[in-house]
Amino acid sequence: MHLHKYEKIWMSFGVGSLLLFLIVLGIGAFYQGTKPPSCMVTLDPQNVQAHDAFKDENLGLQQLGDSEYTLNVLASAFNYDMGVDEEGSPVRKVRIPVGSTVTFQATTKDVIHGFELAGTNVNMMLEPGYISTLETTMDVPGTYTLICNEYCGTAHHLMMATVEVYE
Ligand code: CUA
Repeated sequence: MHLHKYEKIWMSFGVGSLLLFLIVLGIGAFYQGTKPPSCMVTLDPQNVQAHDAFKDENLGLQQLGDSEYTLNVLASAFNYDMGVDEEGSPVRKVRIPVGSTVTFQATTKDVIHGFELAGTNVNMMLEPGYISTLETTMDVPGTYTLICNEYCGTAHHLMMATVEVYE
């Protein structure tokens, strides 16, 4: 069979593009392994207390400045630990004044969990051994539900907490 010169050129171009695409896809998918997007800080998932942010007394909402907060959350199946209130009951809801800058800082001590504050741009994956952080300004008052969007077991759908942004 005789191939026209241009046919050969276009065929090599097609095959070349396909190979390039697969190489880029392959490197993109496996380069650096799977890690949460903000994965620069690591910790021992068996001993999260070793990191200041996840010591019992530092869990939950911490005020840093006038309108600056950190929310430290320790996820586990099937709970978002945000510390305890004055009565010693687990905190299920935090209240933040509108316009505040909040740094969400979270990790998990068992399996992969999600960390999505529905209706906002806060959406992180929590992986054992990594601290996921995200800074945002809470500009819209409302009651937001923190949900787990990574399947983590039988009570996955019950894993939630509430963040209220008030005026
Ligand atoms: Cu935690 Cu799903």
